[in-house]
Amino acid sequence: MKLLHFSPLAFLISFLVLLSSKQVASHPNLDKFLRCVSQRSNSLDQISDVIYTRANCSSFKSVLRSYIRNERFNQSTTPKPLAIVTPLDESHVRATVVCAKYHGLQLRVRSGGHDYEGLSYVSHDPFVLLDMFNLRAIDIDIASETAWAQAEGVTQIVDQWQRVAPNTDPDLFIRAQPRVVKGSEYEGNKTVQVRFIALYLGRAKNLVRLVKKSFPLLGLDHKDCIEMPWINSTLYWFGMPLGNPLEELASRTWKPRFYAKYRSDYVQQPIPEEGLDAIWKKLLEFEDLYLQFNPYGGMMSQVPENATAFPHRAGNLFKIQHLSVWSEPGEENARRYTDASKRLYDALAPYVSKNPREHFLNYRDLDVGTNENGNSTFGAAYFKGNLPRLIATKARVDPDNFFRYEQSIPLTI
Ligand SMILES: Cc1cc2nc3c(=O)[nH]c(=O)nc-3n(C[C@H](O)[C@H](O)[C@H](O)COP(=O)(O)OP(=O)(O)OC[C@H]3O[C@@H](n4cnc5c(N)ncnc54)[C@H](O)[C@@H]3O)c2cc1C
Ligand SMILES: *[C@@H]1O[C@H](CO)[C@@H](O)[C@H](O)[C@H]1NC(C)=O
Ligand SMILES: *[C@@H]1O[C@H](CO)[C@@H](O)[C@H](O)[C@H]1NC(C)=O
Ligand SMILES: *[C@@H]1O[C@H](CO)[C@@H](O)[C@H](O)[C@H]1NC(C)=O
Ligand SMILES: *[C@@H]1O[C@H](CO)[C@@H](O)[C@H](O)[C@H]1NC(C)=O
Ligand SMILES: *[C@@H]1O[C@H](CO)[C@@H](O)[C@H](O)[C@H]1NC(C)=O
Ligand SMILES: *[C@@H]1O[C@H](CO)[C@@H](O)[C@H](O)[C@H]1NC(C)=O
Repeated sequence: MKLLHFSPLAFLISFLVLLSSKQVASHPNLDKFLRCVSQRSNSLDQISDVIYTRANCSSFKSVLRSYIRNERFNQSTTPKPLAIVTPLDESHVRATVVCAKYHGLQLRVRSGGHDYEGLSYVSHDPFVLLDMFNLRAIDIDIASETAWAQAEGVTQIVDQWQRVAPNTDPDLFIRAQPRVVKGSEYEGNKTVQVRFIALYLGRAKNLVRLVKKSFPLLGLDHKDCIEMPWINSTLYWFGMPLGNPLEELASRTWKPRFYAKYRSDYVQQPIPEEGLDAIWKKLLEFEDLYLQFNPYGGMMSQVPENATAFPHRAGNLFKIQHLSVWSEPGEENARRYTDASKRLYDALAPYVSKNPREHFLNYRDLDVGTNENGNSTFGAAYFKGNLPRLIATKARVDPDNFFRYEQSIPLTI
């Protein structure tokens, strides 16, 4: 007769082993994948320098982190790749794609790592990261003759702004940035401040003349303008102090550490003044929420909607970027800030595009639906009437859906 034993200790040990092997997160096909990449790459002498696994612990971590731009995806709980390949030539790229597909591993491709939801370096399936940072070829054509202005104003100016900014001189771009401030000058009270920042391709005196006529409430003065070559203005827009050397543009180091959640909207009818007031009121309920109003019009509306995949053309007054940015770690804070962002998003619904509520792909937002949860309405939100053509193309070039992620083009609607 055979006795069956139940030993709690044995159970515990096997459970622990399971857990720790899960943490190491190896994959039965990883070795095969690595061998495959080495064999298929043309430059065999280089290939060992471009493959990182978790065995190369510290360099693996530093390569992975070097293009993370959002602390939400820099957590111990964030899924990590099985391996990172940092190609030096095209054969490394080809080998990585072919071998990942052959050995059933998901692939994530990262260029700058700015994806707002971390999709270029995070996947919940076992995956390898193809990290393109070594492949650099950028041609910059430097133009000069640029002036631009910045001023602060009161909330009512926004109404004039939304009627002027989308229709003004195509050489003028004026962004409005509402945010909540809490300062000694307001006796510690919170108030909404709207900052205007503009880029004008021309001389300051022409800009002042233009703005005085079309957007008088801004009260633009010559002293609010700084003339500089266009290339310098790129640093200024990024928030760098004046006088920063242009070499800064080539720097790839990233110092700020913050957590963030982003969303987007399109405005197609001027928001009535009561609506603007309601938005400011909502903003005041929270902290660290910002909005960025980016005017459309100009060249944006001259390209037909179906000429490229990007469909947000004529008919849009401006695009809104919602930003929720925080610096305190932890799930609880993440929940608090993303909830706040969701409530502001809900409050904006009456004033923005509908059916579908349109969104900007670059401001990646997984809350508008994913392939995984079966809600691919994000497709119409990002691509509008171009979606059927994108789906047909996808079905033709990637019928196995190998290049997939949470918001990749689905094979069918
Ligand atoms: C600080 C900051 C400022 C920003 N400012 C702006 C702004 O002013 N205007 C604006 O429009 N957007 C802005 N964005 C958003 C940004 O433009 C988008 O997130 C853009 O997709 C980033 O490109 P990337 O190469 O850095 O991103 P990555 O995160 O590397 O990639 C983005 C997506 O493209 C895929 N991908 C990357 N490389 C390849 C490749 N070689 N082949 C195929 N697929 C690839 C990735 O897998 C991912 O799905 C900003 C983002 C940040 C973090
Ligand atoms: C990582 O480790 C593997 C195995 O030890 C080695 O072959 C490879 O060259 C290492 N990669 C780097 C970039 O050092
Ligand atoms: C990620 O976290 C590590 C460890 O806390 C930290 O050293 C690093 O600065 C963080 N940010 C990035 C972008 O790596
Ligand atoms: C600050 O708020 C208090 C209380 O609502 C109010 O009495 C005061 O006038 C406010 N101060 C400013 C500068 O708005
Ligand atoms: C533009 O940048 C260059 C290079 O850093 C600098 O020499 C020049 O003074 C800048 N011009 C202005 C007007 O800021
Ligand atoms: C784009 O739209 C125009 C105008 O509606 C139409 O004539 C044209 O055929 C469309 N092009 C494509 C590729 O669908
Ligand atoms: C899909 O997502 C959109 C946008 O968030 C939402 O409006 C819609 O109700 C969702 N549909 C389903 C079936 O969940």
